[in-house]
Amino acid sequence: MTIPQPIHAPDNQRVLVCVAWPYAKTSTHVGQIVGSFLPGDIFARYHRLAGHEVLMVSGSDAHGTPITVDADKEGIAPGELAARYHAQIVDVLDALGISFDCYTITTTENHYRVTQDVFLRLLENGYIFKDAMESPYCPTDRRYLPDRYILGTCPYCGFTDARGDQCDNCGRTLDPIQLIDPRCRICGSLTSKIEIRTTEHFFLDLPKFSEPLVVWLERNRGHWRPSVTNFALNWIKEGLRPRAITRDLDWGVPIPLPGYEGKRIYVWFDAVIGYLSASIEWAQRQGQPDAWKRWWELDADTQEPARGYYFIGKDNIPFHTIIWPAMLMGYGNLALPYDVPANEFMQMGGQKASSSRGNVIWTRDVLDQYGADPLRYYLAASMPETRDTEFTYDELVRRNNDELVAAYGNAAHRVLTFAQRNFEGKVPEPGALTPADEAMLATIEHGFSAVAAAIEAVRLRDGLNEAMNVARAANRYLDEQAPWKTIKTDREAAARAVWTMLQALNGLKLLFAPYTPFSSQKLHTLLGFDGEVTDCGWAPAAVPAGQTLPAPTPLFAKFDAPGSEHAVAG
Ligand code: MF3
Ligand code: ZN
Repeated sequence: MTIPQPIHAPDNQRVLVCVAWPYAKTSTHVGQIVGSFLPGDIFARYHRLAGHEVLMVSGSDAHGTPITVDADKEGIAPGELAARYHAQIVDVLDALGISFDCYTITTTENHYRVTQDVFLRLLENGYIFKDAMESPYCPTDRRYLPDRYILGTCPYCGFTDARGDQCDNCGRTLDPIQLIDPRCRICGSLTSKIEIRTTEHFFLDLPKFSEPLVVWLERNRGHWRPSVTNFALNWIKEGLRPRAITRDLDWGVPIPLPGYEGKRIYVWFDAVIGYLSASIEWAQRQGQPDAWKRWWELDADTQEPARGYYFIGKDNIPFHTIIWPAMLMGYGNLALPYDVPANEFMQMGGQKASSSRGNVIWTRDVLDQYGADPLRYYLAASMPETRDTEFTYDELVRRNNDELVAAYGNAAHRVLTFAQRNFEGKVPEPGALTPADEAMLATIEHGFSAVAAAIEAVRLRDGLNEAMNVARAANRYLDEQAPWKTIKTDREAAARAVWTMLQALNGLKLLFAPYTPFSSQKLHTLLGFDGEVTDCGWAPAAVPAGQTLPAPTPLFAKFDAPGSEHAVAG
């Protein structure tokens, strides 16, 4: 076992952005976007702009029984169903600008190979053992029932709809065998009694990791969200038990040992390995098969690992703070998570979004109606970082109209159209700046450090707030300077204000770039630049006097109140 690694030095500039793998069972809903994809993307985009090395990975989680059950219903192979949903997910993530270096799926040969390698290494190192296991079996369906297909009463909190793997009420992970009054979800039968049969399975010897996990969690306490640390420590305090990591199933990664043909590696065990296998796939695609090591092994010179950030929802905390770190320790020589900034939930209609409950808002639908940046802005502004939030169309529209359009979009459009009309579409010469102009430039500069500090601490809402504060300051500056008045009496004053505002917009395009990248790219072009905003770096830079400004169009559009027929995509 490797000893938990030290906290990295602050100048470490390799950032591994790991985003929770969504099941390839449905397309994505906005809860998944706000919970993991968008925070991961904002974080990665900022770090790339700041010049840090970033590798951002995830993929579709294709295994598990829900997918086999749905595929059975359609009469197709589970792999086919997973591939179909994977394509839909990729499509939505692209449209939303989620900037993965590698977004893959767990059905690849590479993932199978890496999973089997991890399994065998842990077995060899004595962290996996074989044992008989009591498994629930439904005589009606004539199959072993996977954890999620058993419902019953939670032995800890008494919640009556706890699933076999986890109780959604108290958050504890469960073994199906612990459920009181278990019932089958596939046939829905209340009468056919679930049988408990004995089969042989492999177990991850979690108790062996209790102590090093506590040391590691305590050591990271300073920069983790307290709720995440406390959740993990409590979990360990309650006593870790060995966990079965194989199942009686024919869909999943095969066990790489003879005699287990009817069994597969448990979906959760292979899914977390996806972070590693996707990094390896990325390296292979780069034509540098060893490049993944830069993200997972200690640096040869500094002995520092890269910083791995895991963007997940709170229901995934145990797997990312206990089970995956234990697997990594047991494997040896691989970097443990640096931070697991788990989000709370964004609820829909007062409940946790769940496709089985039917209260799901599909990302595709919102995207088609409102466009990527307004959705990204709204989700980032109401990200459930410290407590649950609630998705509503009213709030999406209000934030778009009152914040994105009113503070940011209008400032840009007013200045750009004014420059077009009064300065022949060129950036004017500023002449000597006044204290008010200098103060505006200083506000921008301060914005860069404030947004950076917030994002680096994974306080993404705060980062967006800081960016919005700068936009509001720019609006105030513009109103005070009122170049539309001074242009008639003091053309030089108007030129100075327009020049200063163009510099402010040039800063805003970067401050907002992690959050609303499409409009940042557009603003970049409207300010007369070629190329990509993503190549600009993280620091204020000048828009040179004399630069030609193309004919402006608005960055954002106002939306009508939801339900009205005239809502337009922006
Ligand atoms: N597919 C699972 C879920 O959506 C697990 C995601 S995280 C992983 O809850 F790392 F384990 F893949
Ligand atoms: Zn049944």
